[in-house]
Amino acid sequence: MVNTEDSENLAAKSLLLINGPNLNMVGLREPDIYGSKTLDGIVDELKEHAAIRGFNLVATQSNSEGALVDAIQKSRDSVSFILLNAGAYSHSSIAIRDALLAVAIPFIELHISNVYSRESFRHRSLIADLAQGVIVGFGAHSYSLALEAAIHYLEDIRSD
Ligand code: DQA
Repeated sequence: MVNTEDSENLAAKSLLLINGPNLNMVGLREPDIYGSKTLDGIVDELKEHAAIRGFNLVATQSNSEGALVDAIQKSRDSVSFILLNAGAYSHSSIAIRDALLAVAIPFIELHISNVYSRESFRHRSLIADLAQGVIVGFGAHSYSLALEAAIHYLEDIRSD
């Protein structure tokens, strides 16, 4: 049986990666913008990277807004940080914004592409102002940069 202290320690070491709509197509989709690595490949590497740094990373992807809201809500007591590429919903979803406000878990908004060098509708984010920070435009490497930033954030608050 896991006691309360153990489960708090587990939560403190648990990171959740959430990918939104169409990110399951990365690797096939517009490779000039999103690169040739598949999402599975990116996630596998990120899990290894997290494990080397002593963290457990769980990953989920959905094309549906409600499922993304569910994933955020469910993480409330079990996750210490969220890495979030909400895809197109970053630019439009009040429901995802509200879920992030409801759980109050620190998170990073990340994007593979530099959304600011693309169409103007991608320049608006409904979640960036709630995030600890935003990482955009580094291709698949945006994920590992976000992971390192999350770990630094968690190590900083632990040592305070
Ligand atoms: C994206 C950028 C979004 O504008 C787009 O809708 C995506 C992918 C990125 O990772 O670059 O689906 O989030």
